Amino acid sequence: MLLKGGRVVDPCMNIDDELDILIEGERIRGVGKGINVKGAEVFDVKGKVVVPGFIDLHVHLRDPGQTYKEDIESGLRCAVAGGFTTILCMPNTNPPVDTAETVKYIIDKAKRVELCEVLPCGAVTKGRKGKELSNMYLLKEAGCIAFTDDGSPVQDALLMKRALQIAKQLDSFIMNHCEDDTISYGHINEGYIHALTGIAPRSPEAEEIMIARDCILSLKTEGHIHIQHVSSSLSVEIIKYFKEKGAPITAEVNPMHLYFTEEVIKEVGSNGKVNPPLRKEEDRIALIKALREGIIDCVATDHAPHAPYEKGFIEESMPGIIGLQTALPIMLELKRLGYLTLNDIVRLMSCNPARIISKKDHGISAGNPANLTVFDEDMEWILDESTNYSKSRNTPLWERRIKGKVIMTIYMGKIVFKGKY
Ligand code: DOR
Repeated sequence: MLLKGGRVVDPCMNIDDELDILIEGERIRGVGKGINVKGAEVFDVKGKVVVPGFIDLHVHLRDPGQTYKEDIESGLRCAVAGGFTTILCMPNTNPPVDTAETVKYIIDKAKRVELCEVLPCGAVTKGRKGKELSNMYLLKEAGCIAFTDDGSPVQDALLMKRALQIAKQLDSFIMNHCEDDTISYGHINEGYIHALTGIAPRSPEAEEIMIARDCILSLKTEGHIHIQHVSSSLSVEIIKYFKEKGAPITAEVNPMHLYFTEEVIKEVGSNGKVNPPLRKEEDRIALIKALREGIIDCVATDHAPHAPYEKGFIEESMPGIIGLQTALPIMLELKRLGYLTLNDIVRLMSCNPARIISKKDHGISAGNPANLTVFDEDMEWILDESTNYSKSRNTPLWERRIKGKVIMTIYMGKIVFKGKY
């Protein structure tokens, strides 16, 4: 297969040029100008952007147990439509991912679907109940890449300390959803809409306190903590402080927190409800700045599907927003607004997540697996029944016109998604 004349952007390989990419079998065979090979299937991608496949460190596939929201097949269709070739799936399934059997179920099913790479995360605690550590050794052996109780923060500091120590021994890492339950009981940001409506709040300090605790534990244990979905400006300052002290910390942000504030809830109601919540404009701007400065390492979608009946009144609604298909359009909008460059986007969606999971052969270079995403920066489309691959539709962007579209995703040399172009 030959991709001809696209703008190839890969900051890890120091590439930003109009180039051809030759793929043979599962691997990239050559990258350069004027490549011509007899018998190759040629795709003219002039005017399009070609990048190393995106990697999402935070996806809820809901399988096993909640397949009315999503399942491994629909989730992966959504992932490749969004340009992702590797995803990490969260363990808040039913049963939770705390046994080797459940890990095997996910790995086997993902292999059968064979659309992109799926790396399961195991639960930090048994049943995600926060009381007793899961058997992390066994889960690692079964194929877990990292550990998290996502959705449920690990409240117990001693458990978190032990988890970081074990993760270090296993050459793995802990991802934490940071929100201290003792001061986080509500549904939306402690801010304007909360004050206006009286809806119970989730305060930013709930997040900041737990991030500070986890950063201290990471510094002391030298265990790698990955902070999930950072949402407040003070959280950014805390992470910066401890990174500068040399703690092995990485952090992600959800594109929704980069694009929306709490205000959107007035328009879209519970489709804007997520934990941690959408916050204030000053937080949004601090998060974007943190991405540019490398304080936050990457974006991760926290794709969290829920059925329409679970997204009723705010107080009764499940938290979460789907995001696999809208991550790139949001990032491109931030580029158009002058906040980010194309290089930043690839660094944040591809290079840095690869570094965090120690994926060494990711990038556009001869010999590496052919995991590539081709997109059109300006193509407009609407996320609706006809374009959505998820089983759910819980997003503030539902039926809104958006700009920037993946037109081809290649995983291990095979076209796994092809859009109109
Ligand atoms: O809003 C959220 N929904 N935040 C999480 O951390 C979990 C997620 C879910 O699983 O629905």
